[in-house]
Amino acid sequence: MYIIGIIGSPRENGNTATIMDSISKGAKTQGAEVEVIHLESYHIEPCIGCERCRKDKTCTRFFDGMHLLYDKLDRADGIILGSPAYNYNMTPWMKSFIDRLYPFFDFSEPRPGPYTSRLANRGKGALIFGVCEQTDPKELGYTAVSMRDAIQAVGYSIFDTLAFANHFLPNSVTKHPEDRKRAYDAGVGFVSFLLGAGAGQRGEC
Ligand SMILES: Cc1cc2nc3c(=O)[nH]c(=O)nc-3n(C[C@H](O)[C@H](O)[C@H](O)COP(=O)(O)O)c2cc1C
Repeated sequence: MYIIGIIGSPRENGNTATIMDSISKGAKTQGAEVEVIHLESYHIEPCIGCERCRKDKTCTRFFDGMHLLYDKLDRADGIILGSPAYNYNMTPWMKSFIDRLYPFFDFSEPRPGPYTSRLANRGKGALIFGVCEQTDPKELGYTAVSMRDAIQAVGYSIFDTLAFANHFLPNSVTKHPEDRKRAYDAGVGFVSFLLGAGAGQRGEC
C-alpha cells in the first residue's frame, strides 16, 4: 500500500508537517509506505486554463515539479491533503497542486457536459485536514471542505476531513499530544479504509 501525503504549508516544520508526520506514523504501523511531499519545495505553476490537457492528457504547457508527481498520484492507493487556513481557504501551493490535477479529467463534448476522471473507480481514498490559528474550527472556513470536494471530484473516496484548531506558532502542534494522537489514529484508520475494512465516510468539517 502506497500513500502520498501532500503538505500545503510553506513552513517546512510547521503544524501541517507535524500533523502529517503523526498520520504517517499511524499509517506505517499498518504496513503502508508513506511518501510526504512538501509542495513549497516543488516548483508548481498555477493552472492558466489553456485546456491543452483535454487533448494531450497531461500538462504540456508547464514542465515543472508537477510532472514529478503525476506518476506517483497514478500509483498511490491513498492521498493525504493537509493545509493551513490562509484567509479561510487552502494555501496557494495546495490550490495550484489541486488545479494541476485537471489533466486527469476526461471531458465529453459538447461542453458543458458529463466528465470522468482517470483516477476514479480505482479504489483510491483521501484523508483531508486543515489547521488554523483560531480556537473555533469554523475559522478554517473553506480550507478543508474545498480540498475535500475537489479531490472527491477527481475520483477519491473520502475517509475523513479533520480540523486542527488553536494552532498559531509553527511548533504549536508539537506541544499538543492529543492532536498528534488524533492524527496518528486517523493514519491507522485510513489504511483500514483503503483496505476496504473502513466504516465509511466520516468528517468533522
Ligand atoms: C496569510 C495567512 C492567513 C491566515 N489565515 C488564517 C485564517 O483565516 N484563520 C485562522 O484561524 N488562521 C489563519 N492563519 C494562521 C495559520 O493557519 C496558522 O498559523 C497555522 O498553524 C499555520 O500552519 P503551518 O505551521 O503548517 O504553516 C493565517 C496565517 C497566514 C500566514
